[in-house]
Amino acid sequence: MKKFLLILLIIVFNSKAFADDKMILGLEVYKNKAMCGTCHTLNAAGSNGQIGPNLDMLKPQIDQIIYTVTNGIGVMAAWEGILTSEEIEAVAYYVYNSTTN
Ligand code: HEC
Repeated sequence: MKKFLLILLIIVFNSKAFADDKMILGLEVYKNKAMCGTCHTLNAAGSNGQIGPNLDMLKPQIDQIIYTVTNGIGVMAAWEGILTSEEIEAVAYYVYNSTTN
C-alpha cells in the first residue's frame, strides 16, 4: 500500500496536469497577487512595465527568479513573508517557462 501511494504521488507530481496548475498559480501571482507586470515586460502575461528589466529579453533562470523574488534587488521589494514559498516557486516557474518558449 505504501509503495502504491508513493508511485501514485510520483505520477501526480510529474504529470502535465500538475505542471499546468503551477503555471496557472504562477500567472495569478504574476498578474494579481504580486503585480510583477507593473514593473516588468513579459509578452506571455501581456505586461509591459518599464521599471524593471524586460523579462523576455533577460530570460532569467528559475533559481535566479526565486532568489530575486525572495530577497529583492535594488528598488524591487523582497516578497518573502508576503508570498508563500509555493507562490514564489510557481511565479518563477511561470516566468521561466514563458520566456523560453
Ligand atoms: C516595483 C517594481 C517591481 C516589481 C513589482 C517587481 N519587480 Fe522585478 N525588478 C524590478 C527592478 C527595478 C529590477 C532591477 C533591479 C536591479 O537590477 O537593481 C528587477 C529585477 C528583476 C529580475 C532580475 C534579477 C536579476 O538577477 O537581474 C527578475 C527575475 C525579476 N525582477 C522578477 C520579478 C518578479 C517575478 C516579480 C513579481 C513577483 C517582480 N520582479 C516584481 C522592479 C520590480
